[in-house]
Amino acid sequence: MNFDFVTPVDRKNTASLKWQRYEQQDVIPMWVADMDLTSPPGVQKALSKAVSAGVFGYGEVPQGLNQAFIDWCASQYNWQVEKDWLVWIPGVVPGFNLAVEAWLKPEQGLLVQSPVYPPIRVLGNLRQRPSVDLPMSESINNFSSYLKPETSALVLCNPQNPLGKVYSRQELEELAGLAEENDLLVISDDIWSDLILEPSLRHVPYASVSEVAAQHSITLMAPSKTFNIAGLSCAVAVIPNPKLRASYRKKMRGLMPDMNYLGLVAAQAAWEGGHDWLEALKTHLNANLDILENWLKDFPQIGYQRPQATFVAWLDVSSLQLENPYETFLQGGVALSPGEAYGESGYLRLNFGCSAEQLKQALHRMTKVLYNVGVIK
Ligand SMILES: Cc1ncc(COP(=O)(O)O)c(C=O)c1O
Repeated sequence: MNFDFVTPVDRKNTASLKWQRYEQQDVIPMWVADMDLTSPPGVQKALSKAVSAGVFGYGEVPQGLNQAFIDWCASQYNWQVEKDWLVWIPGVVPGFNLAVEAWLKPEQGLLVQSPVYPPIRVLGNLRQRPSVDLPMSESINNFSSYLKPETSALVLCNPQNPLGKVYSRQELEELAGLAEENDLLVISDDIWSDLILEPSLRHVPYASVSEVAAQHSITLMAPSKTFNIAGLSCAVAVIPNPKLRASYRKKMRGLMPDMNYLGLVAAQAAWEGGHDWLEALKTHLNANLDILENWLKDFPQIGYQRPQATFVAWLDVSSLQLENPYETFLQGGVALSPGEAYGESGYLRLNFGCSAEQLKQALHRMTKVLYNVGVIK
């Protein structure tokens, strides 16, 4: 079956975070991580059916959704998940914030990768827990010199945003041993788990590498990045350890809203029938990466490594010596994510989850910017 990753989607005036921010300007938004692509036809169909029924009362996770997720984990990651381990939540970000509140005493702290997705970067600050950065240039298993006596949890982002790194089974097995030795909980944000673009790689959930890893971890997953349904607020925490699960559930009470009814409908349809669409999407995203790489050949000053996963590229523009790279490109009509938000100035993150045409238009504008600032003579 052919899927449509070509027809432009018009998201102006649609209450879209990505498009609304720059609505008054002639700007192509290539920042926040949702895609300017439509969701799988099966998801659209299930949502249309629910919407046309016209009733939007409280949702409850149906058995079919539990099963769809369990089957997805088995088929995509060879991970056997039990229904009892699942705690449904409206988002991954509240999911890891809650883990910190539920499991860490006020004086206990975190170890977080750097650079990293901004809500992980600010997690310690927000939850008022001490937080230490573990540089991404360091192997994840070289964390011992970064540990403080109060460090009690490691936040792992796998695949990693913004670098697109995919952690191997071997790395995670070693990590599990070290985490156990150092008495660390592992909060694993696997939201990008389905978008592995490098064909030779597969996603390995941290909790799947050993019983030890399963017992001291939480794995946060969602259909939102994969199927472009982030606006429907549906995610799941996998917590195999019954004690950790019980305290997590207890902490949730009164703080987490009920699950979004349409989110439940969309998630089930996505996991039940989204396999072929996802394969086609990954081919499309790899083709977009080829377009980006071709463009980058003219600008060897921009540092870049092909991401193994995600639909974001991390561009090192430090050698361009721009005072404010984000602002410079914004003035040229392209909104990128500023590296500072991830903990690394001199970088920009470009979201290539869009049609090839949109990407080419954005790159065309970026060429002009580079011309104007004297990078091309
Ligand atoms: C690593 C990572 N975690 C979580 C999220 C967002 O999670 P949610 O929208 O489910 O809160 C994102 C979105 O870009 C992300 O990149």
